[in-house]
Amino acid sequence: MSRVEQKIKDLARHTYGTWRRQDLWKQPLLIEDAEGIYMYDANSKRYMDFSSQLMCSNLGHKNKAVMEAIVKQAEKLPYIAPGFTTQASIDAVEALRTVMPKGLEMFFFSTSGTEANEAALKMVRQCKAPNYKILSRYRSYHGATVASLTFTGDTRRILAERARCTIDGVRFAPDAYCYRCPFNLKHPTCGIQCARYVDYMIREEGNVAAIIVEPVVGTNGRIVPPPEYFPLLREICDENDVLLIVDEVMTGWYRTGKAFAIEHWNVTPDILTMAKGCTAAYAPAGVTVTTRAIADFFEEETFDHGHTYAYHPLVLSAIPAAVAEYEKLVKSGHPQRVSDHLKNKLFELGEGHPCIGDVRGIGHFWALELVKNRETKEPFNVKADKFSRKILVTNKVAADAMDQGLYVLAWYDTMIVAPPLIITEAEVDEAIRILDKSLTIADEETVTTDVPLSKSSEFVTI
Ligand SMILES: Cc1ncc(COP(=O)(O)O)c(C=O)c1O
Repeated sequence: MSRVEQKIKDLARHTYGTWRRQDLWKQPLLIEDAEGIYMYDANSKRYMDFSSQLMCSNLGHKNKAVMEAIVKQAEKLPYIAPGFTTQASIDAVEALRTVMPKGLEMFFFSTSGTEANEAALKMVRQCKAPNYKILSRYRSYHGATVASLTFTGDTRRILAERARCTIDGVRFAPDAYCYRCPFNLKHPTCGIQCARYVDYMIREEGNVAAIIVEPVVGTNGRIVPPPEYFPLLREICDENDVLLIVDEVMTGWYRTGKAFAIEHWNVTPDILTMAKGCTAAYAPAGVTVTTRAIADFFEEETFDHGHTYAYHPLVLSAIPAAVAEYEKLVKSGHPQRVSDHLKNKLFELGEGHPCIGDVRGIGHFWALELVKNRETKEPFNVKADKFSRKILVTNKVAADAMDQGLYVLAWYDTMIVAPPLIITEAEVDEAIRILDKSLTIADEETVTTDVPLSKSSEFVTI
């Protein structure tokens, strides 16, 4: 074992690996550099980043403008308590207000998506008291703390429940998941039952304060809802006096082609949360944005929330720089052009691999859902397998791609294709060539059928 390998092993012995059994945290890969859409390990091996790290490095690595803004702030005023204000704060709010959907205008800054959602939860419970129940959906991830994990649908919540790390008052609504409709219906004759059932839930539950949803489901499937879903959900919330929280932590910042995914449906939520892309991951930001109506509630109430690092100047300094970089990029037309190419290439890839049941997504945000059998949609792995000792088929594909120099994240049932917005058509082609080879590993375990590939997000146009 080399000296570097020994040091990595020692490090792993003294640090907790995130979201994994610790016997799988023995020899993490040491990354020494990253630039553009590439990262490099200690042996200078190059990996293309086809998932923007954790779907956050939207501008790619080593963006000069964002790095310089942070350095400048570090030299000027790296920290001041949140009870004061700073030019960094003024500039960040001004920049954000140029892109926020109309009606969202009051900001709270923290340092992660989890905290952005935690703040939203506390706000709605204060505003809507004595109503306190939060509705979420099974296919969701909203954060790692006790509250945000309780209103997360995926396996991580199930583990947290076993450890009694949960809050009360959370209920789960059906997913707008057309490939595997929970009501076994088909769009458009389904009547958007997934949204209508929320109305039934609210009336039958009682005491509901809010519903939290990812506009396009992130980790748990890149699920694009049918066009009627969000207008209907907004209507149901209004009729029942329930607040709508839209979690744009992963979908925000042009990941889906618009600054915020909810803009595809012309719906304004009561609260929008964001993180990741708002600094393009150059600094850890979380932002909770509300309407004036919610702000008015707090006018004569204590806003019972805060952190030492709320409104941290280093974090805030990255925001205007990132906003300007996004604006430049979007004006150039580059991401729009490449996302069309990406979509066509992914559909082509899907046609050629029996292991791909559904190709769905929007913008730079796609899922390849792997199945054993296209006809029955039998999955290779299910939710419960995620933290078991089973070797997931998606992980085998991702590991093979990594060997070939392509970093692409895998969830238990899907591959997560979410490259930085700066990726070029030629780079997409290179990534697809690698995936094309790696997916044959899963093809070997499939049953041959004549059923064509599903493209369950085809109702989307951007
Ligand atoms: C939709 C969504 N909400 C919240 C979070 C939590 O954000 P963070 O990891 O910054 O706490 C994530 C993280 O992946 C996410 O995808």
